[in-house]
Amino acid sequence: TLYRADKLDEKTHIFGIIGNPVYHTASPKIHNPGFEAIRYNAVYVPFLVDSVRAFFKLAEMLQIHGFSVTVPHKRSVQPYLGRITREVKQIGSCNTVVRIQNMWKGTNTDYYGFLAPISEQLGKGEIKNALVVGAGGAARAVVWALHNHGVKVTILNRSMEHARTLASETMSTFDTLENAHLYNGNCELVVQTTSVGMGNLGNEECIPSFNFTGKEIAYELVYNPKETLFLKRAMEAGCTIIGGSQMLMEQGKLQFEAFTGYHYPHWIQADI
Ligand code: ATR
Repeated sequence: TLYRADKLDEKTHIFGIIGNPVYHTASPKIHNPGFEAIRYNAVYVPFLVDSVRAFFKLAEMLQIHGFSVTVPHKRSVQPYLGRITREVKQIGSCNTVVRIQNMWKGTNTDYYGFLAPISEQLGKGEIKNALVVGAGGAARAVVWALHNHGVKVTILNRSMEHARTLASETMSTFDTLENAHLYNGNCELVVQTTSVGMGNLGNEECIPSFNFTGKEIAYELVYNPKETLFLKRAMEAGCTIIGGSQMLMEQGKLQFEAFTGYHYPHWIQADI
């Protein structure tokens, strides 16, 4: 159910997503059915953008109301923003931009989208130690979110340099992927943030030496395929599983709120 063009008129608010590549993104499938369901006169379209500067000019001309930001622009949009949240500043990454009183405000819904599925366990203090696999853009939001909630994080990554940088900013420790087995039984949460396991590579895994005890929460950020080898192994061990489409959906709901001022309609099952 994509937005129907015959319903667009001069009052339609334009939203979108900028990135390169961008046409594969699931975000239109979250936002357009959401607008439709609450009868909000808006449309959400992908913009293939190379020049962020040129896009901001276009955004002024078209009076674009807000947009999502994906690779490679999450950092480069920031000089154009009048206001940023604490999370954008910490993580150095902005994935949501809204026009507020003729100014562009940048937020990071990946941060809160990541936290949403584990908020209960965090609230009860059940997560004290976490392993985060990866040290790229996605890992930055995850590690900062956990650090800000008092969780002790160990970052496992292929490149020690990337791991070291993120670890020193967030007072975390770091290690190699090969040493994953050293952390068996020592953490309540394992988050997989690398692209390993995505698409055709679905039968690969980053930390094959890590053994789940069954007590961990296994949190995967890859959403295609829905079941990665990492999740499969965790499930077989009896772990609680959080799949990649959950964070995607949660961060999308928060974006929808930032865009429209309304909660995402709970009865919608977005096809992502
Ligand atoms: P994202 O924004 O999705 O996090 P990214 O910033 O490019 O993307 O980060 C990719 C992460 O996946 C990094 O941690 C990367 O490891 P390096 O820091 O060593 O580059 C990790 N990664 C990508 N391909 C990998 C592979 N084949 N094996 C292990 N780690 C991989």
